Amino acid sequence: MADETTAADIVAQLEALEREAHDRLEQFTAESDLSEWRTDYLGRSGKVTQLLRGLGGLPKEERPRVGQLANTVKARLAEALEAQQAALRRGQHAETLKAEALDVTLPGAPVRMGQLHPTTQILNEILGIFERMGFMVVEGPEVEWDRYNFAMLNIPANHPARDMWDTFYVDADPTKNFGSMLLRTHTSPVQVRIMENTPPPVRIVAPGRVYRNEATDASHEAIFYQVEGLAVDERTSMADLKGVLTAFARDLFGANTRVRFNCSYFPFVEPGAEVSISCHVCGGDGCRVCKHTGWLEVLGCGMVHPNVLEAVNYDPAQYAGFAFGMGVERIAMLKYGIDDIRYFYNNDIRFLQQFR
Ligand code: PHE
Repeated sequence: MADETTAADIVAQLEALEREAHDRLEQFTAESDLSEWRTDYLGRSGKVTQLLRGLGGLPKEERPRVGQLANTVKARLAEALEAQQAALRRGQHAETLKAEALDVTLPGAPVRMGQLHPTTQILNEILGIFERMGFMVVEGPEVEWDRYNFAMLNIPANHPARDMWDTFYVDADPTKNFGSMLLRTHTSPVQVRIMENTPPPVRIVAPGRVYRNEATDASHEAIFYQVEGLAVDERTSMADLKGVLTAFARDLFGANTRVRFNCSYFPFVEPGAEVSISCHVCGGDGCRVCKHTGWLEVLGCGMVHPNVLEAVNYDPAQYAGFAFGMGVERIAMLKYGIDDIRYFYNNDIRFLQQFR
């Protein structure tokens, strides 16, 4: 019979089928496509199985050889499938790795650094200068009694000097033992608090915030910082005061700074003085910064008043002291040529970032 299937035909078809299966398999690029291929070639009604149906028409002695070949082809295809599956998986893994790659050699995203506020920076600088001269840093409360802010500083009730230091009252009851409670107008009460609790000698600087009932303008804020200084010992003199403050001014504003002491009045010192430095912008010739005077006023100071020493039970016959007080923002303004104190409290980043 011409159309009778021979063993050679089936073998040829098997070989063709295997080639076709390999070709198709190699073209797959995704693992998910493989299941269709498996059904097509290896499935229970797949092409290899169908071919084997022809086995029945072969002479008995030829069947095992062809059947075995068919099984070998099936096994090879199954192996090829597994290999392709693994290869695709590896490829996908590589893709994933590539997509999620982290290049540790790239520069990092910049971290925006904060900085200390210019007031804090200049405050630290001021305190550092006095610490190197042997002054100890101490602090007192911002909410203060009348007694410390005024009375013990030789500013009794109804004294006209109180007009210089109008403030905000927390509890305005002057009949209380320590008087009214208020927001301190200067750091001078720390002088009293320290002397009250410490036998001489004392040598302290006291930084902190102070409050005033001010109509705010370019040179006045209702809240600002001061640094107080106090030194008391048996032979402390005006010469010590001048020496310490001159050294301070030259450290902060430059070695060529000249220092001037003018008589001034503060109830808690006698004599009292205002210290000015030669204008570091024009060198003393006169310019816009120093208002053409050649001098910049930086702080108030003087010899501690005997009434203050007596109030803290220091014997004025045995001890003498000097004290000074300065506005921290004002010092920064003079040093950096800032013309408005309100910049310090506006939180304008363009201002603040100039002090990095
Ligand atoms: N406490 C004064 C003020 O705020 C400054 C000062 C301090 C003056 C110490 C003399 C001595 O104006």
